[in-house]
Amino acid sequence: MKEIILNGGPHEHVNIYSTLEDLNPIFEERKHMKVILVNGSPHEHGCTYTALKEMCPIFEAHGIESEIFWIGNKPISGCIACGGCKKTGRCVINDSVNLFLDKAAEADGFIFGSPVHYAAISGALSSFMDRAFYGKNSLFADKPAAGVVSCRRGGASAAFDEINKYFTINNMPVVASQYWNQVHGTTPEEVLQDLEGMQTMRTLAQNMSWLLKCIEAGDKAGVQRPQREPKTPTNFIRK
Ligand SMILES: Cc1cc2nc3c(=O)[nH]c(=O)nc-3n(C[C@H](O)[C@H](O)[C@H](O)COP(=O)(O)O)c2cc1C
Repeated sequence: MKEIILNGGPHEHVNIYSTLEDLNPIFEERKHMKVILVNGSPHEHGCTYTALKEMCPIFEAHGIESEIFWIGNKPISGCIACGGCKKTGRCVINDSVNLFLDKAAEADGFIFGSPVHYAAISGALSSFMDRAFYGKNSLFADKPAAGVVSCRRGGASAAFDEINKYFTINNMPVVASQYWNQVHGTTPEEVLQDLEGMQTMRTLAQNMSWLLKCIEAGDKAGVQRPQREPKTPTNFIRK
């Protein structure tokens, strides 16, 4: 009987699934799908990281590769609206956004995590996501995504809504969990005590894994991806 260890969590020794085969009857040693988990906190191993990390063993158990991508703690410029990315697919400001874009092309799903700063996502992640997403619909379309937020006390759902806006303007299926994807704490140790929050993370990873496999199975069965019309940009200015 194999035991799945949930790294670093309060359930470290809880045997939730008796075997990998129980978890996924058609489990195979394959890692051809990948989820990138973006940590939008200035703390590399803080609360947001703790929430994201809880999901990685679940992806692993499903044979899905996962990578936590930290945006760093250096200033991240906002979008300067030059339109350069529409020509090259990269940002003219060469920082962690371009590193992420290189990886994003190979990813099948995304989780974006942020600490709550004044009932919003971190300023750095806001700038990062503006520049990562602008003009790059084809890089993200059809790829499942979810937001995760970490707060001390309040503002989580406002920040959560903010992250989801990037997905729903880019044809990305939004993955849900059993609650809005939030944990509470000012330190990783406190986050680990938010048992419901941590469970919400594990459920999110289960749901994301399931949807990724459904999409893969659909592709293999010949289910056509959505056929989309050319965009009709309509600005609300009339002469
Ligand atoms: C500038 C700033 C603003 C914050 N604003 C809020 C807030 O509005 N609501 C809240 O509950 N916590 C707030 N916090 C606390 C953090 O969101 C919380 O401790 C979070 O879990 C830290 O995550 P991290 O370790 O990944 O950075 C704020 C922290 C900072 C630095």
